[in-house]
Amino acid sequence: MARVIILGATSAIAEATARLYAQEGADILLVGRRAERLNAIAADLRARGAARAGIALWDLEQAKDAAQKFAEFVAALGGFDHALLAYGTLGDQSDAERNPPAAEAILNVNFNSAADWVLAIANALERQGRGSLVVLGSVAGDRGRRANCIYGAAKAGLATLVEGIAHRFASKGPRAVVVKPGPTITPMTDGFNRKGLLWATPERVALAVRRAADRGAPVVYAPWFWRFIVLIIRHLPAPVFNWINK
Ligand SMILES: NC(=O)c1ccc[n+]([C@@H]2O[C@H](COP(=O)([O-])OP(=O)(O)OC[C@H]3O[C@@H](n4cnc5c(N)ncnc54)[C@H](OP(=O)(O)O)[C@@H]3O)[C@@H](O)[C@H]2O)c1
Repeated sequence: MARVIILGATSAIAEATARLYAQEGADILLVGRRAERLNAIAADLRARGAARAGIALWDLEQAKDAAQKFAEFVAALGGFDHALLAYGTLGDQSDAERNPPAAEAILNVNFNSAADWVLAIANALERQGRGSLVVLGSVAGDRGRRANCIYGAAKAGLATLVEGIAHRFASKGPRAVVVKPGPTITPMTDGFNRKGLLWATPERVALAVRRAADRGAPVVYAPWFWRFIVLIIRHLPAPVFNWINK
C-alpha cells in the first residue's frame, strides 16, 4: 500500500484525496499547522480504512530547510511513495496590488515556499528512483486576469517548475505532475457565487489528483474539461478577452 505525505492536509481538496488513499488502506502523514483539525482528519481517515494516519505540525510557508524537514516527514512515515503539495491561498488581490507585503505573502505561500518543497521532494524522489509528486496548481495560472493575477502568477511559476521536474524525470522512475483545478467549492472560495456547471466539488478534483499520482500526463486539468476551456481562453485575442471579462 502507498505511503503518502500530504503537505497542506487541512485543504478540502487534500482531505478528499486523503479519503481515497484511506479506502486503499494507505499509510498517510498529514502535514499542516492546525493540530486539532489535523487530528480530526487523521481519526476520520483511520475509520475509513487507512493503515496509519499520523500528523506532523509545520507551517509550510517556512521552507528554508525544506530538504531536512521533508526527510523528517519521510522518517516519521518510514519511507514515502507519493507526496501531495496542496496548500495555497488566494489572498486579497486588491489589497496586494497596493500593499507590497500582502503581494509578497501571496507569492511566498503559493510560489516561494512551494518551490522549496517541490525541489526538495524532487531530489528525494530522484535518490530513491521511484514514487510521485503531485502539486496543486490552478487554471488561474494559465492566463492573467486582473481579479487574481498575483495568485495566478505564483501558480504559473509553480506549474512551470513541476513541468520541468517531470521533464527531468522523463527517462527515470519517479513522476511529477501538476494538477490544475478549475473553480472548486472549498473554504478558499467561500465568498464566491458558486453556482453553475463549472464549479466542481473537492471530491471530483480529488479523483484526478489521486489518479495523477499513478499515471497520466505531467499536466492534468480537474475536471478534465478545463483543458479545452483553457485552450480557448489562452488563444482569445486581448480585446475579446477584455470584453468577456469586463
Ligand atoms: N478552491 C479552488 O477553487 C481552487 C482552484 C484551483 C486551485 N486550487 C488550489 O488547490 C489547493 C487546495 O485548495 P483548497 O481549495 O482545498 O482550499 P482550502 O480548503 O481553503 O485549503 C487551503 C489550505 O492551504 C493552507 N494554507 C493557507 N495559507 C497557508 C499558509 N500561509 N501557510 C501554510 N498553509 C497555508 C491551509 O491551511 P490552514 O488550514 O492551516 O489554514 C489549508 O490547508 C491550493 O493550492 C489552491 O490554490 C483551489
